Amino acid sequence: MNKTLRTPVIAGNWKMNKTASEAEILIKELIPLAENAACETVICVPFTDISTAVTLTKGTKIKVGAQNVHFKASGAFTGEISAKMLTEAGVTYVVIGHSERRQYFNETDLTVNRRTKAALEAGLTVILCVGEMLSEREDGITETVVELQTVAALTGITAEQMKNVIIAYEPVWAIGTGKVATDEQAEEVCAFIRKVLETKYGKETADKTVIQYGGSMNPKNAAGLLAKENIDGGLIGGASLKADDFKALLEAAS
Ligand code: PGA
Repeated sequence: MNKTLRTPVIAGNWKMNKTASEAEILIKELIPLAENAACETVICVPFTDISTAVTLTKGTKIKVGAQNVHFKASGAFTGEISAKMLTEAGVTYVVIGHSERRQYFNETDLTVNRRTKAALEAGLTVILCVGEMLSEREDGITETVVELQTVAALTGITAEQMKNVIIAYEPVWAIGTGKVATDEQAEEVCAFIRKVLETKYGKETADKTVIQYGGSMNPKNAAGLLAKENIDGGLIGGASLKADDFKALLEAAS
């Protein structure tokens, strides 16, 4: 099975949750849990928690990620953070193109592509989010949407750079709604994304790329989703904010 070529990645997307002091409490609970996990463990924290997270996770199995990055190295971009600012702060992962950024902050396929390029050039591992809205699924254009988003985001990205790209398939209708995609629905789209990668980069790169599912993943549904051939982990919102839930997800992925 090609699944064995990939190490699952469980990434918590904390979104706009946890002050630095709250983060400290949660991270201290997570450190021993990640120690025994047979998957990669990442926490994507708010910018203000990065310093705390990097300090506390030093020498542990938890990697720290950010939730956005700007594509320019520096300049007049009020409120933005550059890739070098992240790497120098000890961040190694970054979420790009999350549907909440696409919905609320005018993120487009073009800016997702520019951010991805800048992040990879700086040595960050990118968790690239793609996924259809409910209306698009109902219109039967899920694959078209996901293919367009994936190809656009990866324009100009080489097969070599793909070693540092994780794709997170997140159907927008399943995010934070408690309405999880069925194992089959999630597998179908993740398998399709792998085909898109195969067309663009060849089978070897496609087989090695980690493709996560995200959208209301929780301790109850994780095992079924993660058992699927093309689902190599999860990008987890709500359930990443409670140590017990996150523990169950790490166990399901191991
Ligand atoms: P959720 O969020 O697990 O709360 O649905 C997932 C995500 O947005 O990455």
